[in-house]
Amino acid sequence: MQEAYYSAIFKRKSSRKFTQERVQEEKIQSILQSIEELTPLENDIKTEIKIMDADSMKGLLAIKAPHYVLFYSEEKPNDLENAGFLLQQVDLMLSDMGIGSCWLGLGKPTEKAVGKDGMNYVIALAIGPTSEPVHRQSKAEFKRKKMEEIYQGSHFSSIMEAVRLAPSGTNSQPWFFVEEENTLHAFCAKKGKLKAMLYERINRMDMGIGLCHLWLAGLAEGYEVDLFREVSEREPTLPNYEYTYSASLKKK
Ligand SMILES: Cc1cc2nc3c(=O)[nH]c(=O)nc-3n(C[C@H](O)[C@H](O)[C@H](O)COP(=O)(O)O)c2cc1C
Repeated sequence: MQEAYYSAIFKRKSSRKFTQERVQEEKIQSILQSIEELTPLENDIKTEIKIMDADSMKGLLAIKAPHYVLFYSEEKPNDLENAGFLLQQVDLMLSDMGIGSCWLGLGKPTEKAVGKDGMNYVIALAIGPTSEPVHRQSKAEFKRKKMEEIYQGSHFSSIMEAVRLAPSGTNSQPWFFVEEENTLHAFCAKKGKLKAMLYERINRMDMGIGLCHLWLAGLAEGYEVDLFREVSEREPTLPNYEYTYSASLKKK
């Protein structure tokens, strides 16, 4: 599975033009089964992922799709990073299956789409068959920052290439990674007050998405990848950025 998700990194794109046909029921069942086997960033955060019909989302800016993947979580530290990490695996899974998907930061679930055990709705993916290709033909089609804008280091360029291609809200790519021996420290760009209010939640999910690509690329290259958050006294610093996570990479 993880190999397939890794391959999808290099061809995936957001799909926004859905035919409104339904995805075959067997495929929905297979997605739901794979969702059971996803790896979280944090083991102790309760989450729920469900696939709902078109009438589960509202909001003028929501993309119209035949199904939505809705993500719910209990509220805990690192919950949004965990959401990004988990739901990006679903985005890549769908791309691998040839099903279109698009992250949906704008839009709200309707009353019928409530989470169990009082979990909060976090974010959704719009998914379904599309009227345009689901994959990019080449890397040149990705609009992304240059490697030097997101990475200081030299040993993990190919892993960082997978991070560079990761999707983010409004394509803001808020991440910067600093290498220290066999560890990559992940930082998120600090924003002014207004932007911080608008984007704080999305940026935290973006960081989880970037970490998901890092993890998959590390595994694909034969590393053992350990993702952790340094305790506050030992947190690395970088001017104008906020520390989020670290990834230690050891050859198996
Ligand atoms: C957390 C998050 C929220 C997003 N919200 C929306 C959205 O509400 N509407 C939309 O059209 N695209 C949304 N996107 C898609 C991004 O605009 C898109 O991923 C980015 O521009 C990169 O393009 P690509 O996914 O085609 O590579 C979102 C992406 C992320 C990661």
